[in-house]
Amino acid sequence: PVERTLSIIKPDAVAKNIIGKIYSRFEDNGLKIIAARMLHLSQADAEGFYAVHRSRPFFNDLVKFMISGPVVVQVLEGEDAIKKNRDLMGATDPKKAEKGTIRADFADSIDANAVHGSDAIETAAVEIAYFFPSLNIYSR
Ligand code: CMP
Repeated sequence: PVERTLSIIKPDAVAKNIIGKIYSRFEDNGLKIIAARMLHLSQADAEGFYAVHRSRPFFNDLVKFMISGPVVVQVLEGEDAIKKNRDLMGATDPKKAEKGTIRADFADSIDANAVHGSDAIETAAVEIAYFFPSLNIYSR
């Protein structure tokens, strides 16, 4: 099915000047960028976005990292977009990511791991609405 997923290019990748390289991975693999914005997250933005991880031991470091510089947030649309984006990103820990994935090629550590992507239909809808409240996520 055609799906939408929320993608974030994290502060490490923006600082490395590889926004375009990451966008090419999406575009070359059938994912269309249908909404995009660059922003510097506040602490409240980052804590709200990652609220599901609030009780995890890595939460504070994750939030600190995500507010360390600007990010680029986009909605990707395409056939099986959620899984396709996750396959393109590779494993969360870049040391475990398969060769040729975004994280294997560009990421430095489990926090500075270049990109975020929604993990399921339900979280994609919540995450898209978090950054693009005016986007009608129910339409096709
Ligand atoms: P992301 O897909 O943005 O979702 C949560 C983030 O937490 C994850 O990518 C990692 O960057 C970060 N993180 C740090 N430590 C861990 C961990 N042990 N397990 C999962 N995510 C982690």
